[in-house]
Amino acid sequence: MTDLRPIGLLAELTHRCPLGCPYCSNPLDLVRAGQELDTKTWTRVFAEAAELGALHVHLSGGEPLVRKDIAELVNAAHLAGLYTNLITSAVGLTAQSLTELRAAGLEHVQISIQGVDTARADAVAHHKGAAKAKREAAKLVVEEGLALTVNAVIHRGNIADVAAIIDLAEGWGAGRLEVAHVQYHGWAIANRASLMPAREDFLAAAKIVEDARKRLEGTLVIDHVIPDYYAERPKACMGGWGRQVIVVAPDGRALPCHAAATLPGLAFDNVREKPLGEIWTNSEAFQKFRGTEWMPKPCQGCERAEIDWGGCRCQAFALTGNPATTDPVCALSPDHQKMREMATADAASTNGTYRFRRIGG
Ligand code: SF4
Ligand code: FES
Repeated sequence: MTDLRPIGLLAELTHRCPLGCPYCSNPLDLVRAGQELDTKTWTRVFAEAAELGALHVHLSGGEPLVRKDIAELVNAAHLAGLYTNLITSAVGLTAQSLTELRAAGLEHVQISIQGVDTARADAVAHHKGAAKAKREAAKLVVEEGLALTVNAVIHRGNIADVAAIIDLAEGWGAGRLEVAHVQYHGWAIANRASLMPAREDFLAAAKIVEDARKRLEGTLVIDHVIPDYYAERPKACMGGWGRQVIVVAPDGRALPCHAAATLPGLAFDNVREKPLGEIWTNSEAFQKFRGTEWMPKPCQGCERAEIDWGGCRCQAFALTGNPATTDPVCALSPDHQKMREMATADAASTNGTYRFRRIGG
């Protein structure tokens, strides 16, 4: 049982996507189209999320625009009283579809970009024409009067362009820019040796971001997600396990985070079979790492235990094989040094090839 209430729902409407970004945090085992929830079930899930206290929904994927019922889904979320945010590659977003989505109740659009150089950005997206489509879509979003966030995932291949990425987001008229270093889950961990930047390059980019934050205060809000492998303390992943966010995967599994299905020994309830509120409150998976009781030393009793909630369970598992250990990002973790050495070795790797994300592996 819990008195906690989620703030947001991350609705992974589909894993289908026209792009193949090698840093995608979706699982390697992507959900097929035939397993996706239908419109009626999502409509019920939105209503249940709102009833549970959620304020906003992130309509995500994969690429949510590939759902033929996307306008209906936006409308259902809007009618449930949720603030609607479309997280999109923007490939396939047209003036007509945007007008329809806005009429359905869409309030915010987040467009991901791969970089500023068209050819290099298209190569990372594994989709010719993606960069152009994004540029055009961003213009449409601003013209429609919708709030625009630009999300730029930073890695070794584009870290030198951080200043230009900031200029681009400002030029596009975005209200917010996320400069988000790769988080190593799903496809990203499979591509870690090709994505990891050198620590000195991260520090140089971080200075550019911090300077821009001051310079652009009042014009462009810049969120900076730093690379875990070069941090000293972890982030509160998802705001803490089972505390702020519910993720619903395309096939209806309700998860405490987008990578939770990679953890061994956890059974996830499905919204096809149980109401969201019951899953949030009572399911074994949501309770497993909620709060501080599960924590090992050095988290147990640490002054940051209720700030970062021990960091990321999925990262702890990926790096140590144990999901119930301190996130190695923490300098107090016995695994921290090993993680740093992995990062240094990956950054020095000359491997420049990517394993692109695609259904079927
Ligand atoms: Fe956070 Fe645990 Fe590190 Fe303390 S020991 S800072 S709770 S990860
Ligand atoms: Fe699962 Fe961080 S991604 S807890």
